[in-house]
Amino acid sequence: MEPLIQINAATKSFQKNKETITPLDSLSLDVAKGEFLSLMGPSGSGKTTLLNLIAGIDSPSAGEIRIHGRDIAKLSRAQLTRWRAEHVGYIFQLYHLVPILSAYENVELPLLLGKWTKAERKAKVMAALELVGLSDRADHRPSELSGGQEQRVAIARAIVHDPALLVADEPTGDLDRESADAILKLLSTLAEEHNKTIIMVTHDPKAAAAAHRALQLEKGQLVTSGHLLNHMPT
Ligand SMILES: Nc1ncnc2c1ncn2[C@@H]1O[C@H](COP(=O)(O)OP(=O)(O)OP(=O)(O)O)[C@@H](O)[C@H]1O
Ligand SMILES: [Mg+2]
Repeated sequence: MEPLIQINAATKSFQKNKETITPLDSLSLDVAKGEFLSLMGPSGSGKTTLLNLIAGIDSPSAGEIRIHGRDIAKLSRAQLTRWRAEHVGYIFQLYHLVPILSAYENVELPLLLGKWTKAERKAKVMAALELVGLSDRADHRPSELSGGQEQRVAIARAIVHDPALLVADEPTGDLDRESADAILKLLSTLAEEHNKTIIMVTHDPKAAAAAHRALQLEKGQLVTSGHLLNHMPT
């Protein structure tokens, strides 16, 4: 089966004064559809840089980022923005919910860019809240939710437009163990039962081990790769 993500010799470098910084150095990686991949590595090793390339938030200086066979490195800024709105959901460490909006309204936000009617939006928002187990909290504002619930609302917002790809940057970094485990279980379910491809950056070895495969970044390169644990996508 063709992988959903094929990264071929992707390099990202920045010019700072007269110095060149290379957060990603000719990195290659394939990720299968429905795979849940974790990414660990020291601070500054290029984890967020890699996520941003995969999510189309940034473009590589060289190399290919193929998603569904299409090299998104070749897209213009405007094309990339459109591509991202359709194909990617992003989950952050600190949830980034809008404080004055209800859970429902937060989840609805990505749909306001699309062509859906109010009734269609409602069906999608309620399905996403149901999936994360929070349909009874639709009217709550973020300040009326626990951290774990806020992150589940953020996950509902990330999946509401049904993207193939989910990227998460330390999604459990701010949570207690129990809430973190619930989030990890939810991410596994999204991969295994909803065929989402998930790339998760984490500093927590237990979170990394919850994924199907755990990779390690160091100085912009993958240093080890191994199939961990129980499950691989079928
Ligand atoms: N826009 C930029 N301009 C210059 N340098 C950058 C830029 N973005 C990232 N870098 C550098 O690239 C390197 C990798 O950064 P990145 O954010 O990917 O690290 P990280 O692995 O996510 O670290 P952390 O665990 O602290 O989040 C760092 O040295 C950073 O300073
Ligand atoms: Mg980072």
